[in-house]
Amino acid sequence: MGLGPSTTAADSSGSESIDAHWMRMALRLAREGLGRVEPNPMVGCVVVREGRCVGMGYHELFGGPHAEVRAFHDCGEEAFRGATLYVTLEPCSHYGKTPPCADLLIKHRPSRVVVAMQDPFEQVSGAGIQKLRDAGIAVEVGVLETQARALNAPYLKRIGTGLPWTIAKWAMTLDGAIATSTGDSKWISGEESRREVHQMRARMDAILVGSATVLADDPMLTARLGKDEGALARRAIRVVVDRRLQIPPTSHLVSTAREVPVWVMTSQEVMDQATGREKLAKLRDSGVRVELFPKEVSRDSGTFLREVLRIIANEGGTNVLVEGGPKVLGSLFEAGLVDQVECYIAPKILGEGGGMRPVAGQRVRKCIAESIRMSSGVWKSVGEDLHFSGVLSRQG
Ligand SMILES: NC(=O)c1ccc[n+]([C@@H]2O[C@H](COP(=O)([O-])OP(=O)(O)OC[C@H]3O[C@@H](n4cnc5c(N)ncnc54)[C@H](OP(=O)(O)O)[C@@H]3O)[C@@H](O)[C@H]2O)c1
Repeated sequence: MGLGPSTTAADSSGSESIDAHWMRMALRLAREGLGRVEPNPMVGCVVVREGRCVGMGYHELFGGPHAEVRAFHDCGEEAFRGATLYVTLEPCSHYGKTPPCADLLIKHRPSRVVVAMQDPFEQVSGAGIQKLRDAGIAVEVGVLETQARALNAPYLKRIGTGLPWTIAKWAMTLDGAIATSTGDSKWISGEESRREVHQMRARMDAILVGSATVLADDPMLTARLGKDEGALARRAIRVVVDRRLQIPPTSHLVSTAREVPVWVMTSQEVMDQATGREKLAKLRDSGVRVELFPKEVSRDSGTFLREVLRIIANEGGTNVLVEGGPKVLGSLFEAGLVDQVECYIAPKILGEGGGMRPVAGQRVRKCIAESIRMSSGVWKSVGEDLHFSGVLSRQG
């Protein structure tokens, strides 16, 4: 994996520092682990000696070797000695699924370690940096820290709040409709956009929808990928928020629950009725995990969704894709639980009878200044559609 002679810091055309140049490369590498390493963070490592990259590695798969270990094997035993290591996250100092990376570095003695950011994980939290310093290795912290934080924002959110990174996704027409007034929404976006959504699903821990979307569309919510795309795909849990337990036992979700997990989040109130108790038993017999929430929780839409997300995070869920519909998205936005938006706009117009808009909600906003804003966003063409991907500036 080592790069050839032309890969030196001198190749960088901009005016950024040499440290920033190599750290940027380590961050690019780290991103390769997206959707494969969670609930771990994405980490990249670049080894530089005399101005040349002599080895690199990234954390590729949950439970697999860390970036520093892969970089070590990439450049060979002698190459750490006296080199500078660029790592996007503090090297670990504890025994997890693998031994501490800090010990590997201390054994093989790089002269300097540049770290983008400290790891807030409680078993590390500065101890890795301290261990290196105590062993006489120079450590610099904070190079491209903002970029490193943005890269691992989902990991940082779960560690810091106990909630997963929540992505709201919808497809709409040019005039802002997500379904006709009769509820038809197949297909608003084009084939290329839909392929992209399947790739997105393959990087998620959970995909969440409202019960009305299940009733209207009977979706599968699985990642259906091309032959060469599926090797490292995640298998997301399919979550339905359904306080009145309306999900049909004959739906695609229920009938495939033994192959791909389905969790139904409902209210304890369904147990008050014999029909509710029977349905619940039927769902459990089909392999569905049913969670019952006390009515004090389920009666408040925001509290209910927050607790649903907390259950997902408690089981290691870092990224959750919410695929609608408008009522659930509205509740999530109103509760400040959305972190990112993925919106596909198709060159179609439904007009007056266009029906549903993507985000419902009770709160009346009287002026544009009250709108929910993005702190960053990128637009791109996907086939005939336009795709917006942005992170919210307002967090709950
Ligand atoms: N174009 C697209 O991208 C797209 C994507 C998805 C859906 N859709 C369309 O959207 C339509 C369905 O949307 P919808 O707005 O009617 O329903 P929805 O948001 O899919 O589901 C709403 C239901 O979810 C349950 N729910 C549970 N917790 C909730 C909470 N905290 N806040 C709000 N609802 C909660 C409620 O039933 P309980 O009170 O019983 O829990 C509620 O009736 C369908 O026509 C579908 O085709 C389009």
